[in-house]
Amino acid sequence: MSDNAEIKELANFIRDKCKNIVLMLGAGVSTAAGIPDFRSPKTGLYANLARLNLPYPEAVFDIQFFLKNPVPFYTLAHELYPGKFRPTLTHSFIRLLHSHNLLSLCCTQNIDTLERRAGVPSEKIVEAHGSFATQRCVRCRTPFDDAKMKDFVMNYAQKKLIPRCGKKGCGGLIKPDIVFFGESLPPSFFSSQSVVSKADLILVIGTSLTVQPFASLSLYPVPRALINLDLVGDFGMRESDEEREFILLGQCDDIVRELCRELGWEEELMKLWEET
Ligand code: APR
Repeated sequence: MSDNAEIKELANFIRDKCKNIVLMLGAGVSTAAGIPDFRSPKTGLYANLARLNLPYPEAVFDIQFFLKNPVPFYTLAHELYPGKFRPTLTHSFIRLLHSHNLLSLCCTQNIDTLERRAGVPSEKIVEAHGSFATQRCVRCRTPFDDAKMKDFVMNYAQKKLIPRCGKKGCGGLIKPDIVFFGESLPPSFFSSQSVVSKADLILVIGTSLTVQPFASLSLYPVPRALINLDLVGDFGMRESDEEREFILLGQCDDIVRELCRELGWEEELMKLWEET
């Protein structure tokens, strides 16, 4: 569990100094929902892909690899597909920040749509790595029907059928609107940077800060806080005369709940979470 004094300090800072908080989320926020993160040793997704015979783990989300061989991705897709997972306490905390008019933007790397499911308004969410919510042909970009896609993904293990574009003369592969390695991030990510640079606090939760350009958002010279199992990025390396930083190491749901207790929001948090 993280140092309680640091949680009290962060609660006081939020109460006294914050009007615009920007979130930076990673897969660690959804592990308590049952979705593995990517890089945790043993439990992370990348440590459990041996059955897919990949040249290297990230290939499953690499666009050039997918175009040549979409089988590993579709073998994995049903394990990640939204609908069977419930938002975590941390997702409800983000919804609570919005209710208290403190949420400026929720920039997430996660593709599970749990921020939306928790009730965070979509205009406050930047899905920097896309999401499973929609899909389209990689060749002609024609959108593909949601219900048909869900059927292909959920029945892939039995039918081994890969969805292809129905447009005459196309037949291109269908891919969810997830940003694969080798693809550019959506315009919403780049337009979010000015908002991040003006934040009173950047709250980084559940990410290894290993993937660019997303990770670079945490480098703006504004106050920042890390809520994570381990120390990541350049947290802990700020000079004393730089902007304030808070480092809270531990399970994000535990830390978030204690932070809400310090803010007098614990009851609201639990009520919001119970309603998801
Ligand atoms: N509470 C706090 N931190 C946690 C928890 C938890 N319950 N569970 C995991 N973590 C931490 C891990 O210790 C790790 O530091 O969250 C971080 C997750 O890091 P990654 O697995 O690398 O996930 P992420 O940072 O989201 O990956 C970024 O990589 O593969 C690409 O596109 C993919 O969006 C993904 C990107």
